[in-house]
Amino acid sequence: MKKTSVLFVCLGNICRSPAAEAIFIKLIKEKNQYSNFIVDSAGTGSWHEGKKADSRMRFAAKRRGINIESIARQIKIKDFENFNYILAMDNSNFENLISLQKSSEYKSAKITKLQLYANTFLAEEVPDPYYGGDDGFERVLDILEDSVDGFLKKIQS
Ligand code: 4NP
Repeated sequence: MKKTSVLFVCLGNICRSPAAEAIFIKLIKEKNQYSNFIVDSAGTGSWHEGKKADSRMRFAAKRRGINIESIARQIKIKDFENFNYILAMDNSNFENLISLQKSSEYKSAKITKLQLYANTFLAEEVPDPYYGGDDGFERVLDILEDSVDGFLKKIQS
């Protein structure tokens, strides 16, 4: 069976998208579906390339049993060919991805916003927690757990 490839994208690739990636990996492992997927995350910006995820996000996730292990990288044009789904965290990421894809020769990836798949947290964007307090990280994790679950259900329905 061909694997389904999923790329989560935010601005810096150190808070929201690595958390979404780790939550998705945990979920598909729990459902014995890990081998059916390729999962990654990236940022539209390059400032944090090569770094671990923000320690505030890693520690908040760890308390929920979620291990964030990814290393930040910037989105690249080939991602539009390599991934079936590219999931933006907010409107700005989404617009950036759409214009990058337009300027590329690779049109096959479906670019959408993760938050649109939420079961409970109905909003358009996953808020950026970077400049806020610890409660912002908890809220983002609540939103991500809800919307990642909704996304998996949707693509398997
Ligand atoms: P992320 O959060 O996009 O969820 O990784 C941010 C991380 C870093 C910055 C902004 C947002 N920054 O300005 O460096």
